[in-house]
Amino acid sequence: MTDVAAIFRDQYGQEPDGLWAAPGRVNLIGEHTDYNDGFVLPFALPERVVAAASRASSGWRVCSDLQDQPVAFSDAGSPGTVTGWAAYVAGIVWALAEAGHEVPPANFAITSDVPLGAGVSSSAALESAVLTALIDLGGLDIPVAERPALAQRAENRYVGAPTGIMDQSASIRCEAGRALFLDCRSQEVEQIPFDVAAEGLAVLVVNSNAPHQHVDGEYGARRKSCEEAARLLGVPALRDVSADDLDETLEKLDDDVMRRRVRHVVTEDQRVLDTVALLRSGRIREIGPLMTASHASMRDDFEITVAEVDVAVEAALMAGAYGARMTGGGFGGCILALIDADRADAVTTAVESAYERHGFTAPTPFVAVPSQGATRL
Ligand code: GLA
Repeated sequence: MTDVAAIFRDQYGQEPDGLWAAPGRVNLIGEHTDYNDGFVLPFALPERVVAAASRASSGWRVCSDLQDQPVAFSDAGSPGTVTGWAAYVAGIVWALAEAGHEVPPANFAITSDVPLGAGVSSSAALESAVLTALIDLGGLDIPVAERPALAQRAENRYVGAPTGIMDQSASIRCEAGRALFLDCRSQEVEQIPFDVAAEGLAVLVVNSNAPHQHVDGEYGARRKSCEEAARLLGVPALRDVSADDLDETLEKLDDDVMRRRVRHVVTEDQRVLDTVALLRSGRIREIGPLMTASHASMRDDFEITVAEVDVAVEAALMAGAYGARMTGGGFGGCILALIDADRADAVTTAVESAYERHGFTAPTPFVAVPSQGATRL
């Protein structure tokens, strides 16, 4: 990875005070459940954003080897003041200030090996690295459990993307060798052992490389539809709809599309709970069918998959994966497949051949290792 301390020295003529890292994530299961106050189970990737940073005398300056122009601002102002990639940085300064913290002026140099546009939360990684650095540089007293909400606020209000709290929670709170079982209502977490290698297994991630289309609009539309359904059903959030009497509950809704949206969220929450129960008792292989059912639910009920991810999931299953599903917000992005570790090449080849047959742009596969969340290096 790029020597970000060297970039810092070149740009600012001094050594950084420190280096802070925050990872991208994949979600094992629990999609579009976070903003419904439900459950998610992401784990952090080894791919991460690294920020070299120092306190400055005034304002904030940011440069990156991935961007042409450094950006400087003396005040994050209000949403819209700083735009483009630096909005993620300014958004964190803004969210901290808005929450009443004394934000230290600082200089940043930033690099990243989190794939962009792949749905593995490169933006949450950037927010989380900057947030962690500013908290340390300013000696701010903000418990780890409260940090994801600050980063989410930067993303929702400053950058303007209506996302839930999963990605920032994963980037900040995940631990190596574990998946993060998060209750998005209470923010309580449980670190679930997920040492796939010890079981002779691997999680193969395949970036579909499908062009992301209508992502923001469709994401917002799904979220609206869920909130409207909760209102019609008279519950605070879809998390409060019980999976046991789901059929009866669905009869109360007139609209078939809305019924299917609700069915996805309620069954998906249940699949997260079932997955956690299996992992707690060490039955990793048995989560495969839950992953595959999650994919079917996203494809048929929530309607957020595209041909490229459906084909990748299908090919991985045909090649012997225990389970496979799209991960992330949808409309492209990555799939993940739980496989025997020694089948990684065979499953990869199967997906690549299927892509060739369909005339799709070649996918990018990689093996995902559950890694550490945000930290000072
Ligand atoms: C995106 C959002 C998350 C979550 C997922 C879907 O990654 O940022 O908050 O809603 O989509 O599970």
